[in-house]
Amino acid sequence: MPMSTEPRPTSANGIVITFFSTASAVGKTLVACNMASELAREGYRVCLVDFDLQFGDVCHYLQLQPTKTLADLQRTMQVEGDSCRVQEFLTPYEREGVHFSVLAAPKLLEEAYNIHHDYAVRAVRALQRQFDYILIDMASMFSTLNLAMLDQSTIVTFLGIVDFLPTIKNMKIGMDTLKTLGYDKNKIRLVLNRSDAKTRISLADVQKLLGEPFYHVLPNDFRAASTSIRDGIPLVLAPQRTALGDALRALVDRYTNHSSTPAETEAKQQESSWLSRIFG
Ligand SMILES: Nc1ncnc2c1ncn2[C@@H]1O[C@H](COP(=O)(O)OP(=O)(O)O)[C@@H](O)[C@H]1O
Ligand SMILES: [Mg+2]
Repeated sequence: MPMSTEPRPTSANGIVITFFSTASAVGKTLVACNMASELAREGYRVCLVDFDLQFGDVCHYLQLQPTKTLADLQRTMQVEGDSCRVQEFLTPYEREGVHFSVLAAPKLLEEAYNIHHDYAVRAVRALQRQFDYILIDMASMFSTLNLAMLDQSTIVTFLGIVDFLPTIKNMKIGMDTLKTLGYDKNKIRLVLNRSDAKTRISLADVQKLLGEPFYHVLPNDFRAASTSIRDGIPLVLAPQRTALGDALRALVDRYTNHSSTPAETEAKQQESSWLSRIFG
């Protein structure tokens, strides 16, 4: 584990973890903020990227006021090319001695609309040279940007909740689409959030429908989740321990022990790009 939390240039490729879902409000932003905090607490150099371009919540959840966003980075890249310094567009987060960086979503809707996925990919590649982990929060859709990010991912965290039948139907469509696109099975981690929320739907039935078990399960804790968002303190950094915070930490433990190396992922990316399969 690295000793310094200060980003420093390296030739190594950072690990890219994306947070994806086929329904909104399933916990992508909450889980992404907590995983970024926990990885940073463990001493890794972490950048949390908000690619929920139109309705990004990362800065809201962490109570950050960014002066620069992805829109500024894209504008600079358009003039200076990839030689521009990505670090200058990041917003620092610090709490209790834990530091990580945030690449904020554009502030204006028109800026969000004008982000091109090529620049987003170039931004992620630049971040991979600076950080151990790049965590990417996304919007819930199979957009060009999201397909490009799924291609860049070392691990895709596919989050779902089991509440209403339409949510489960959409999760099934999402899983089937990823399968049709020929994803590497190890790359997709199906994570159930709000597991013990009151519902009449059996987990076993959902797993059967999806064709695979959940990789990790996070408990439902509305009070802990909403307090953490209200106070801008991720659960893994909160003074009070919670079952949800512990389960989020356990998810990070499982990810940091994973066997897929960035080099392997890069080779696989060249073999099969989901983006090119759909739009090629
Ligand atoms: N495990 C959980 N238990 C209870 N509430 C949760 C949990 N995870 C997330 N929430 C709540 O669900 C809402 C949506 O979470 P969010 O992270 O914004 O979802 P998304 O980014 O997928 O739209 C938030 O109000 C959050 O407090
Ligand atoms: Mg979100």
